[in-house]
Amino acid sequence: MKTETPILTKRKFNVEEIRNDFPILKRLVNGKPLVYLDNAATSQKPRAVIDALEHYYTFDNANIHRGLYFLSELATDQYETARLKVKEFINAMSASEIIFVRGTTEAINLVATTLKTAKFFEDGDEVIVTNMEHHANIVPWQLMNGNTRVHLKVIPMNDAGELDIDAFEKLFGKKTKLVSVVHISNALGTINPVKKIIEIAHSHNVPVLIDGAQAVPHFKIDVQELDADFYAFSGHKVYGPTGIGVLYGKTEFLEMMPPYQGGGDMIRTVTFEHTTFDDIPRKFEAGTPNIAGGIGLGAAIDYLNQFDRNEMIDHEKDILNYATEELLKIDGLRIIGTAKEKASVISFVIEGIHPYDIGTIIDTDGIAIRTGHHCTQPVMQRFNVPATARASFAFYNTMEEVDKLVLGLQKVKKMFA
Ligand SMILES: Cc1ncc(COP(=O)(O)O)c(C=O)c1O
Repeated sequence: MKTETPILTKRKFNVEEIRNDFPILKRLVNGKPLVYLDNAATSQKPRAVIDALEHYYTFDNANIHRGLYFLSELATDQYETARLKVKEFINAMSASEIIFVRGTTEAINLVATTLKTAKFFEDGDEVIVTNMEHHANIVPWQLMNGNTRVHLKVIPMNDAGELDIDAFEKLFGKKTKLVSVVHISNALGTINPVKKIIEIAHSHNVPVLIDGAQAVPHFKIDVQELDADFYAFSGHKVYGPTGIGVLYGKTEFLEMMPPYQGGGDMIRTVTFEHTTFDDIPRKFEAGTPNIAGGIGLGAAIDYLNQFDRNEMIDHEKDILNYATEELLKIDGLRIIGTAKEKASVISFVIEGIHPYDIGTIIDTDGIAIRTGHHCTQPVMQRFNVPATARASFAFYNTMEEVDKLVLGLQKVKKMFA
């Protein structure tokens, strides 16, 4: 198995040029050029990813791990190469610490379910989460509750949407078993100080899971530097296909955890009386996986690796700053989530106008933003709003697109004046 030859000369980041890599950005919506500002929900795919999927299904499709024939070995090699690419991408110690799953949601469910099976939790134990979790990092912990009840302890946040780290430290007690926190909030854009959170949790001997669904698309993640025990993200938010995602886990935890699902490809021996399981990561990957998805995610990583990520990050920062400034010029517009450390998300409300009306009206101009609770109802409750409108950016967005959003919102305001 080989990884790609490292690219020594990085491709210069030029937003107009890279937009050509994303075919969908050329399409019209309602007769207008698409302005896609819902990247926190899912990102668009570069031609390289689309081609990788097409190539796989056109030339290389076969089931993996089990066949001793040419195509099966080719498909296996590509899928396992993708795992190595993910390992490098987030700097895991070993490729066996990379579990392919459907996405962030499944990654967190896998950890919750298997820790429950392993009797990691006793009745009355506590998992610390934040007030800004996506439902994917709330509901799995609640679903675990049967005979043993596990309680969620919530790190509060201030009116800017920043976590209260002093309050976090006070949440630890004898019953604290796990900290599970979001790296970047999809509803507020807050970048949480996860390195510090991990340090504090480890000083109490408590492991930490990081929901990196919104962080991996925007920053270079180094799980070893963070010292995260688990790190979860979704392929489709990082310019890869839907239906594929990653659970990183430290070997010591993955080896302690029992399998998530049973079936083919995760066993060593099976009799009607007893089954023995394969090593990690196979132990967690029962059945035929999303082979094309894994390969597509590998292609997305190769795509990103062509660039100096810092250039992309700088561009995204410029877009966020410009959009924040311009949106705040709109009378009656209030940004929900004004943390000092923010990334690529602006949630807002406009006085007297329901977010659904905002979203529906600007859609007529081809502008796609998200409206609703963004699967973070506790955030809506904390800020006492039923919903927000949310513009979320990727490195292919431009200042001109921000201007179009502002024009669209001014039009909405006129209609409701
Ligand atoms: C912070 C966060 N966590 C988890 C998820 C769930 O991701 P997925 O639906 O890809 O499993 C999302 C999706 O929006 C998210 O933004």
